[in-house]
Amino acid sequence: MALVSSSVEGVRQKNFQFRCIACGSLSDAAGQDFRCGKCGDLLEITYPAWKEARPDAATLKSEWKSRKLSSHAADLSGIWRFRDLLPTLEDEAEVITLREGNTPLYELPRCARITGVPHLFAKHQGMNPTGSFKDAGMTVAATFARRAGFRWVACASTGNTSASMAAYAARGGMRSLVLVPEGKISWSKLSQALDYGAVTCQLRTDFDGCLRLLQDLVRQAPVYQLNSINPFRLEGQKTLAFEVLEQLDWQPPDHIIVPGGNLGNSSAIGKALLEMHELGLISRLPRLSVIQAEGANALVRTLREAGGKRLISVPAETRATAIRIGNPASWKKAAHILEATRGVCEQVSEFELAQAKAEIGAEGMGCEPASAVTLAGLKKLVKQGFVKPDETVVLVLTGNLLKDPDFTIEFHRGEMFQGVKEAAGLTSLRHPPIVLDASLDAVIRTLERFN
Ligand code: F0G
Repeated sequence: MALVSSSVEGVRQKNFQFRCIACGSLSDAAGQDFRCGKCGDLLEITYPAWKEARPDAATLKSEWKSRKLSSHAADLSGIWRFRDLLPTLEDEAEVITLREGNTPLYELPRCARITGVPHLFAKHQGMNPTGSFKDAGMTVAATFARRAGFRWVACASTGNTSASMAAYAARGGMRSLVLVPEGKISWSKLSQALDYGAVTCQLRTDFDGCLRLLQDLVRQAPVYQLNSINPFRLEGQKTLAFEVLEQLDWQPPDHIIVPGGNLGNSSAIGKALLEMHELGLISRLPRLSVIQAEGANALVRTLREAGGKRLISVPAETRATAIRIGNPASWKKAAHILEATRGVCEQVSEFELAQAKAEIGAEGMGCEPASAVTLAGLKKLVKQGFVKPDETVVLVLTGNLLKDPDFTIEFHRGEMFQGVKEAAGLTSLRHPPIVLDASLDAVIRTLERFN
């Protein structure tokens, strides 16, 4: 089966190298599994050239700003606008872009009142072209996949990665193979992959099972893996931190709070924070904290019960299907980031995340369930005294409200948490649809009832 053009040797580049996160070995090329040839741990991308010719912080800031006025395709992307700190391309015309990034940083006045943290912001990655943060990584990884000559890209997914990968593959003229757990991802996400033309396989297993199968597949077939094990994905996703800092006029927030699933995103954002600090773009490191669902709390347990030394996998179960992951691939990278930025890992219940989701909805923006763990987690971190009321906090909202309408409708109709005592406290957040006769009188009486 000729899935790859014969000239391809693998991904090789000039301005960066691959470094093993465990043994530190450097290499110019990465194998199909993106693991270290010596010890088998994950690889990350590193830029040795920065040591010889350190990029100048002030020049970077003004260059990135000036690109906002450009109509050049790479500048219109909120990811490639930061290309000075990304793996370089010889020709910028090679970029596969859907004008991702440049997402809004919203103030959250209602949630600020609820949490008692006035300086509260949401970086809304759900405003990306396919509705999630995955697009930020996918533009980079898909570009390098095509550049290396791959005809097929593949991923295991809880839905968003597959939607994003399928879109970028389609834009870039590649075929895509999606492996998703049957019955465990939202129809919205699945329908995106179908429309973008992916070969979509619903496997009778969970996400972790899909990912295991993909690992075996890439060893046997020349399909290019676009899960977040792929370090190009994380380079794209790290630009979120550059953009947040730019939006805050380079005043570092005290805290950045991220949902944790496979733990690629927290690793990527943390990598950017460390790089910005090293290059003098910021003088102080924000603390990066990760929030997981109680039913998919592998990192929480890994840190609490094993001191971050070995992974404690869990059988994952949560209605926030995006983070229904029990065996997170990038746990070691995330544990390192939490240590380096002095962040923490917390967990929230299904009830807490559903309530927080409705509160974010009431701000007029909304998000998908997995994103709402950030607000629910923040409430806990404030209670614990880890986040102080005078500190600035950025919540990373990873997915759009429209990604999981079933969850939202069940919540508002009161079908969620039936028989749960605390559910009475949700009444003011619930706005169920009202079925009426099509008469003016009925509508006016309803209006009066709510007035
Ligand atoms: N939020 C959303 C909306 C997600 O889709 C994911 C992951 C996460 C948070 C967690 O990010 O895995 O980098 O820690 N979704 C992946 C997928 C696994 O396949 O779409 P992470």
